[in-house]
Amino acid sequence: MKFFLDTANLDELKKGASWGILDGVTTNPSLIAKEGRPIEEQVRLICDIVDGDISAEVVATEAPAMIREGHNLSRIHKNIVVKCPLTRDGIMACSALSKEGIRVNVTLCFSATQALIAAKAGAYFISPFVGRLDDISSSGMELIQHIVRIYKNYGYSTQVLAASLRSPMHVMDAALAGADIGTMPFKVMDQLFNHPLTDKGLEQFLKDWGKVFQEAPVAG
Ligand code: E4P
Repeated sequence: MKFFLDTANLDELKKGASWGILDGVTTNPSLIAKEGRPIEEQVRLICDIVDGDISAEVVATEAPAMIREGHNLSRIHKNIVVKCPLTRDGIMACSALSKEGIRVNVTLCFSATQALIAAKAGAYFISPFVGRLDDISSSGMELIQHIVRIYKNYGYSTQVLAASLRSPMHVMDAALAGADIGTMPFKVMDQLFNHPLTDKGLEQFLKDWGKVFQEAPVAG
């Protein structure tokens, strides 16, 4: 499973990249706006930090303008994946951009049939929003399971990018369901490291070592 960070914050991305487990980044207009820089500038800075797929979303709502925006975004860097919402115009834009070889992440997916439409339009990623479905008492994870099964049934190459993940349990369940990618806030990725038995075990190892040896072995 690939791990993406769902943030446009450069400090979070630098820290995530330093761990060596970061495969890409997703942004959306809310996340870009939070950082206060124009999207082209912010996305370029992100591309300097993370060597992986970077999703950048269009804000136009009509297909021709979405396609123009998609062209501009894709020119920023070879790693850019253009994000389009799952509307009729967004799907038209996805179809047109995909035919040109521009990779598209279809976002704001809340049903399996929407995911089927995105795959038919040649989407590179489909982004079903798990947390936002859970928020309205609908099972976000069941949606991931359904999409994974449907794509497998028909051999679609569109990758399932489990989005709106809010907890380590979400990440684990998305992995069990077979999602290709999980995108998560920095806080959730950080939480994935934690286990009290790891801390306790390490503390004991170092205590036992310290009883016999005063220093760490010399490296090299
Ligand atoms: C994904 O691409 C979206 O940016 C994101 O996962 C939305 O998450 P949220 O529902 O926590 O805002």
